[in-house]
Amino acid sequence: GRALDLAGRRVAVSAGGTREAIDPVRFIGNRSSGLQGYALARTAVARGAQVTMVAANVALPDPAGATVVRVESALDLRAAMLEAAESADAVVMAAAVADFRPAARSDSKIKKSSAEPDPIHLTKNPDILAELCDRRREGHKPSPAVIAGFAAETDDVLANGQAKLARKGCDLLVVNQVGPNLAFGTPDNAAVVLVAGGDPVEVPRGPKEDLADVVWDLVAARLA
Ligand code: C5P
Repeated sequence: GRALDLAGRRVAVSAGGTREAIDPVRFIGNRSSGLQGYALARTAVARGAQVTMVAANVALPDPAGATVVRVESALDLRAAMLEAAESADAVVMAAAVADFRPAARSDSKIKKSSAEPDPIHLTKNPDILAELCDRRREGHKPSPAVIAGFAAETDDVLANGQAKLARKGCDLLVVNQVGPNLAFGTPDNAAVVLVAGGDPVEVPRGPKEDLADVVWDLVAARLA
């Protein structure tokens, strides 16, 4: 059974979506609601884990029993996750992290001028999931025994997912089918969980808690 099968385990979950500042009032963001990350945190608490949730811009109350660290940008999220990973048995990266951020953040509000608008130059954000996996592979200790990521794919879901799992070097990759009324901002999700060295697990459309429980089943099995 699932009851308390994560007792004595520490897990870290990222949730929500990062915001990358353009100026003091504007940002580049995404549509992640944080619901899947919250479902992961709640279900892990219910199964007895000690949970740290790193929440990026989520408009939801803190899940009872979890330690919540609120962050805004990808760089903030990276710092918080690297710290949480130092004492975590498992890390699940459910947050939507911006791939790019404005190369420079204006200290004052950018004015509307009559001239042509200035372009916003972007620079690459670090891939936090890949970094956690790289550090572990390079022998960094302590590292989480299980590292899981999420990937939203619209086409060639399985092939793209398998390639991403291998490229990032993680243990589990939850591949979401993104579509109308699925994934972003909705209570439901449908996914395939890809397992390094194992068979994929299909999770039919249902509440995000159901998907979260399947993820923790796979995490618990790998920790055992
Ligand atoms: O490569 P892609 O963005 O599709 O991968 C998604 C997974 O990688 C998610 O688990 C997300 O949290 C993580 N990610 C990350 N750092 C980034 C981009 C994505 O950790 N800069």
